[in-house]
Amino acid sequence: MKPVSENHSAPEQAPPWTGPVATSERVLPLDLPGFLTRERHQIHLVGVAGSGMSGIAALLIELGHTVSGSDKVSTMETDRLQRRGLRFHEQHRPEDADRADLVVFSSAIKRDNPILVSARNFRKPMVRRAEALAAIMRSKRGIVIAGMHGKTTTSAMTAHVLREGGLHPSHYVGAEIPILGTNAHWDPRGEYFVAEGDESDGTVALFQPEHTLILNIEEEHLDFYADLGAIENVFAQLITQTTGKVFYNIDDKNAPRVCQSVARAVSYGFANGADYRAMDIRLKVFASAFRVNHRGKDLGEAILNVPGEHNVHNALGVIALGSELGVPFEKIAKSLAKFVHARRRFEIKYDSPRFLLVDDYGHHPTEIRATLKTARSVGRKRVLTMFQPHRYSRTNVLRKEFGRAFDHADRVVVTDVYGSSEAPIPGVSGQIIADEIVAHGHRAVSYEPRLEWVHRTVGNMLESGDLVLSLGAGNIHEQLSALAADLVIAEKLKEIVGEEGEVRLYEPLWKHTTLRVGGPAQFWVEPRNEKAFAKLIRFCRDENLPLFAMGRGSNLLVRDGGIRGVVVHPSGGDFNKVEVNGAEITAGVGAKLREVAYAGKAAGIGGLEWMEGIPGAVGGGLRMNAGAMGAQTFENVVRVRYLDSNGNAHTKTRDEMEVYYRDFPLLEKNFAVSAAFRGQPARLEEIVRKLEASQEKRRTSQPAAKSAGCIFKNPDSCPAGKLVDELGLKNASVGKARVSEVHGNFIVNDGGATAAEMLELIERIRATARAKRGIELETEVQIVGEPG
Ligand code: EPU
Repeated sequence: MKPVSENHSAPEQAPPWTGPVATSERVLPLDLPGFLTRERHQIHLVGVAGSGMSGIAALLIELGHTVSGSDKVSTMETDRLQRRGLRFHEQHRPEDADRADLVVFSSAIKRDNPILVSARNFRKPMVRRAEALAAIMRSKRGIVIAGMHGKTTTSAMTAHVLREGGLHPSHYVGAEIPILGTNAHWDPRGEYFVAEGDESDGTVALFQPEHTLILNIEEEHLDFYADLGAIENVFAQLITQTTGKVFYNIDDKNAPRVCQSVARAVSYGFANGADYRAMDIRLKVFASAFRVNHRGKDLGEAILNVPGEHNVHNALGVIALGSELGVPFEKIAKSLAKFVHARRRFEIKYDSPRFLLVDDYGHHPTEIRATLKTARSVGRKRVLTMFQPHRYSRTNVLRKEFGRAFDHADRVVVTDVYGSSEAPIPGVSGQIIADEIVAHGHRAVSYEPRLEWVHRTVGNMLESGDLVLSLGAGNIHEQLSALAADLVIAEKLKEIVGEEGEVRLYEPLWKHTTLRVGGPAQFWVEPRNEKAFAKLIRFCRDENLPLFAMGRGSNLLVRDGGIRGVVVHPSGGDFNKVEVNGAEITAGVGAKLREVAYAGKAAGIGGLEWMEGIPGAVGGGLRMNAGAMGAQTFENVVRVRYLDSNGNAHTKTRDEMEVYYRDFPLLEKNFAVSAAFRGQPARLEEIVRKLEASQEKRRTSQPAAKSAGCIFKNPDSCPAGKLVDELGLKNASVGKARVSEVHGNFIVNDGGATAAEMLELIERIRATARAKRGIELETEVQIVGEPG
């Protein structure tokens, strides 16, 4: 077991913390509450961007102090505070705090921070965030909301209910609460001060409130506490220091043991015997309703517009507290019904009939279980979860509990740990959580260490009817936001292609290329007819979205970062039709070139047999003017129908089009829809003989392994395959990319090759050809997409 701070148990006199600056090293103002609430000073906050510190900054500004602050990052919060008068510095420079009479510092700040070092040297008064908060609270009638889970929601609910009850409370909560306006507020009119107490570093024991509300007590923050006993000691001390009532959740595993012997204790919960008891509880998708009974007397009905059973408990605590403070039940119930969620607490980011995206701050197994239960009860088909473990210490200590927390999720993608201010612990990563979930018997769990790819992994799993949940206290919500932004576009694309068409997010393109390499397409779209294709082109034009057409991917090398924008794959429906009219064969761009050859055979049309040797579709054959057996596509093409960049259809005949070796420039900015091919009447045996010759040539001179066909165009002087062969590069390889031993102009994928490996091998071949033969090889294969 790792060493734990010696101050984990509640001490007699000294406050239960050490932190970066020991008490003995610091000078403290004699009367801190007076200094902070009755006098006016210059105060500097080190680490002011933190969610707790920004609340203190807001209070100090409202209390009339001149406030400056420093942090290594600026946030929306620091921007907002600057507008209210904070002097903000985006670095920690001692000179910026020189004039301060007091320095307040966050527990995330290291002891060698230059401002702290300088303040220590000059014996400037310094206090921790929680000390400042406790001192501010001491000048009012304090109400502390404490517990492992639900503090922010419950303290916000309390402040809201007391405010609606006309008590003008001041408040301090751990996150921005839309209904309260700000995360902290000083109201000189009211007597009460509601604060969320932070138990994570023991500082909750600094408070000397009038009332305390204990939501739950559980093993958490085991980087700081030795065990549950140590945690309970801190809560016990807080209770001892509470002069008024102690409200506690009677249904919690541990809270009753710590609280029930206190004379002024008031219990709440579902259990028989609770002073304030919820009855007839009806949990709905995004709301709950219940009746409240006070020691046998029915108080009335409460409706709560935040979901989940855990929030019924939280609300009951607030009802108990509000009632004991004299707010009439009707008023409490009315304001609870108006209460809307704190940010990142089951926050709906996107809602459509097909998809629901929800973000939640849950980062402890108990919270995760509760949130997943709520997500499940919403009634969508599946629950997909992206989870970012928070802090190495918690990940390590609670790994088993995490393994059991995801039973209600259909799919789980775990990313790496968000360290917060912690240094990594060797061997502790998101992988251990994924492994524990698997060990617990879950079958659909994966680990995606690259956070920026998580939304892609989850997005590619999406099916209509899914609820996607992001979980974690770090920055995983950004991945959900990225997914939501793309989903808005994906849903519009789906409308364009209709029921019969297909839209997928982040479709891996290696699945759609013969070379089997390549990252994802941001939007993969399969229209089934020309009208949908035309609409799609117009949509992309209007939305400024890049549009790339892809057929069977037989001549493509997609880079590992995939393709941004829309990748259109015209296939199925009209696009796969092959029709014979006399000596002409009309084929949609989605049909295989090979099918044109076989349609010719069936209709007695010869001259198309060479197409048998091309693995691609008609669209790709046209774009590249593909060829084999000495023939090329445009020798047989009589007409091409295409859509221009405005989605308008045109038809051009062969003599109206410019065509080159392996290049048909018209399709650089336009999109082919279909083409008519012409052959000559031929005898069946003749056609069969030529088809067999093509097959034979393919079988004997080309590799069967996964490839993109010929990589290089044939230079004038010598076929590229022969050149590579003569340069002795057959079987040359980079990773799993290798020059085929069968044909020098083929690079094959030996299984799991990356585009980067392919490109490196291509460059090596080109460099050798240049150096040894003075030949500049040009790639025939199309190279597209973003680096990985
Ligand atoms: N050769 C060698 N060593 C090799 C490969 C080829 O000495 O490793 C010699 C062959 O013996 C032959 C000459 O090089 O004398 C040309 O080779 P091949 O007949 O295989 O034709 P190619 O020019 O390499 C072209 C097309 C292929 C098409 C074949 C078959 C190009 C760039 N390639 O290959 O098309 O399948 O003809 O007709 O025009 C493609 O476009 O992706 C493709 C594979």
